[in-house]
Amino acid sequence: MQPSDVEGDLSRVLHTETEIADRIGDLCRRIEADEPADGDGRPLLLVGVLKGAVMVMADLARELRIPVEMDWMAVSSYGSSTRSSGVVRILKDLDTELDGRRVLIVEDIIDSGLTLSWLVANLRSRGPASVEVCALLRKPEAQRLAVDVKYSGFDIPNEFVVGYGLDYAERYRNLRAIAVLAPHVYT
Ligand code: IMP
Ligand code: MG
Repeated sequence: MQPSDVEGDLSRVLHTETEIADRIGDLCRRIEADEPADGDGRPLLLVGVLKGAVMVMADLARELRIPVEMDWMAVSSYGSSTRSSGVVRILKDLDTELDGRRVLIVEDIIDSGLTLSWLVANLRSRGPASVEVCALLRKPEAQRLAVDVKYSGFDIPNEFVVGYGLDYAERYRNLRAIAVLAPHVYT
């Protein structure tokens, strides 16, 4: 779906499909460069956070020129409103044991950082070799976070955005661009 298909629902496009693809490419080149030269025998494990990270996971994984494994977690921190509840709950856990693994959490967006800091601590407690974070989008508050986001795509203003996996009440995930949702849609 293109921005023009839901034009009346959007205030403005922040990042086009092409810009997103370019930035994903940059992130992949950095991730590849950080692979240990000697290797530890196990591929990097990408952990996608459902459902928002589905698009970034699909594009990032295919753009990477190194072998990876993919697993998924579902946690809830947002209902169908536009504000973080502060409550993190595991809805679906990993199928993979993290013992000794190099883990890269793949996130769509970091807002308050509540979800992320909880997730990093949770995965670190499972004995992995390392846990790093890749997030396509970062809101201003996230930059004050204690949690280090090693790979981050775009810093965006503190507005509610949709598209490229991000939803409002489960809609707009299939929008190819990232756009600010028009306030009349949620007020
Ligand atoms: P945090 O815990 O406040 O960092 O929120 C993280 C989660 O909230 C993200 O993974 C998204 O699912 C959701 N979220 C935060 N900001 C937005 C937004 O602007 N649009 C859509 N979802 C958002
Ligand atoms: Mg998310």
